[in-house]
Parts: sequence; C-alpha cells; structure tokens
Amino acid sequence: MRYIVLVVLMWLLSGCSDDKKVKYDGETLIEQKCAMCHNLKMPPDTYADEKAPPMMAVVFHLKDFMKITMKDEEYSKFIPFVQDYVINPSIKKSYCDKESLKSYGVMPSQKGKVTKDELKAIASYMYDFYDQQKFLEQMQARAAFEALPKGEQIARKNGCLNCHSLNKSGIAPSFAMIAKQDAKEIRETIANGSQGKWKGFNMMMPSFKTKLSKDEIVTLQEWIVKGKK
Ligand code: HEC
Ligand code: HEC
Repeated sequence: MRYIVLVVLMWLLSGCSDDKKVKYDGETLIEQKCAMCHNLKMPPDTYADEKAPPMMAVVFHLKDFMKITMKDEEYSKFIPFVQDYVINPSIKKSYCDKESLKSYGVMPSQKGKVTKDELKAIASYMYDFYDQQKFLEQMQARAAFEALPKGEQIARKNGCLNCHSLNKSGIAPSFAMIAKQDAKEIRETIANGSQGKWKGFNMMMPSFKTKLSKDEIVTLQEWIVKGKK
C-alpha cells in the first residue's frame, strides 16, 4: 500500500514539475474523439451515413476561409479556432455553409469529452495531415498508377521491379529477355519461383503462388510477353 502511494506521489510530482511530460498523440486522439462523426480518410472512403462533414473537407475549408498561407499561422488561427469550436460550437462561429449546416445540424459541444491540450494535439495533427498539396500529389500519383497497364500495376505492387527491369538485365534477367520464353513456363516460374535456369543470375526468383491469384499471374505473363523486342 505504502509503495502504491509512493508511486502515485512520484507520478503526480513529475507531472506537476513538467507538464510537457504528457505526450498527446493527435492521430490516436482524433480516432477516439472525432471519428464517430467525422470520416477521417483522405479522401473519404464513403459518403454514406454521414453525421458530419469529412475531416478533410473541414480542414481544407477552414484553411481556405482563414487564408492560412504560412506555417506559423497554424498556431495563431487554426489551433485556437478548433480548440474553441469543439467546446463551444455555434452557427455564428461556423465556417460551414448554410446548406451543410442545415443538413448536418450544428456540431454538438464535446465539452467534458476532450480537453484543451488534447484538442491542441488533434488540431495540430489535422493541420499537418489534411494538406492540400500532399492530397493533390497523392491523387496525381494514384492517377498515374491507374493509367499503367494492369500487368505493370501488379508487378509494381509485388516488387517484381525491385529485381527485374523492363529492358536492362541486373540481378535478374530483364522482362524483354524473358518475353521470348514459352507462356506456360513464364506462368509456372512466377507461381513456383526458380533458380539456376538463367546463366549469370545466381539469385533465387521467389515463388508468388500464395501472393497472386491465377488471373493475376496470367495478366502478368501477358504483359511480359507484350514487351518482347
Ligand atoms: C457527435 C458528432 C460530432 C463529433 C463527435 C465531432 N464533431 Fe465536429 N462537427 C460535427 C458536425 C455535425 C459538424 C458540421 C456543423 C458545424 O459546422 O457545426 C462539425 C463541424 C466541425 C468543424 C467545422 C467548423 C466549421 O466552422 O466549419 C470542426 C473544426 C470540427 N467539427 C472539429 C471536430 C473535432 C476536432 C472533433 C473531435 C474532438 C469533432 N469535431 C467531433 C459533428 C461532430
Ligand atoms: C528477389 C528478386 C526477384 C523478384 C522479387 C522477382 N524475380 Fe523473377 N526472377 C528473378 C531471378 C534471379 C530470375 C532468374 C531465375 C533463374 O535463373 O532460374 C527470375 C526469373 C523470372 C522469370 C523467368 C521465367 C523463365 O521461365 O525463364 C519470370 C517470368 C519472372 N522472373 C517473373 C517475375 C515476376 C512476374 C515477378 C513479380 C511477381 C518476379 N519475377 C519477381 C528474380 C526475382
């Protein structure tokens, strides 16, 4: 018993002498405190059963309206707004447009459910994670990936191109060289792996039987054969 008291006392003392010791993790907190109403995905994976605007929309919107351009304005405008709004929301303060406010209703106050310090961590995480530039880049990268042939998408996702390149041999024969092989043999090698068949390549080609479906293996094989010179 005395031991427990001591531990509690030490914990309290350390807590008081330096309140920075408490580490707030914005990412965990936003999941716990905000995800039941706001969809946190960027971009949102669904718009069904929405109780609130997706967090991405909230943050993009706030940054636009507050005309935030510099990093240090995060502290002067964005964080205090979130800290205040979550505890004392009102139609007057909301930057949400009238139509959305009507359909969602004003956000219920989260007073007692989240502290000011927790909100600081949440707001800071929101500011960094929901970044317009980062979002655009992700969308462009995704569009570029989806524009690739299906076979190349599978090859990139499964790390084939870590060993093989399209035209140049390195640690593995190039796909252009492999393209001349028999279709069935290509499919079997992808499924079962191989070693020692090609002169000058000592590395082992791993088996992908458990990682790829039969259809994916056929798609890969057809894509490799298309690259035949
Ligand atoms: C019970 C559901 C609910 C919870 C929980 C909730 N919100 Fe909201 N929130 C809403 C609704 C509804 C709106 C849209 C209406 C409005 O702007 O008040 C909203 C709007 C907002 C806005 C936008 C205000 C504006 O002016 O556009 C911010 C910022 C916000 N929420 C932050 C949070 C944060 C941070 C949390 C977690 C600590 C959270 N919310 C938890 C329902 C919720
Ligand atoms: C760890 C490196 C590595 C990875 C990853 C890898 N390969 Fe290979 N691959 C090799 C090597 C080395 C060979 C040559 C094996 C030999 O000589 O028997 C090879 C050979 C092949 C062949 C030769 C077929 C034949 O019968 O001649 C095909 C087809 C092939 N790989 C396709 C793929 C595909 C598709 C992927 C991704 C799903 C992939 N490889 C991933 C290293 C790799």
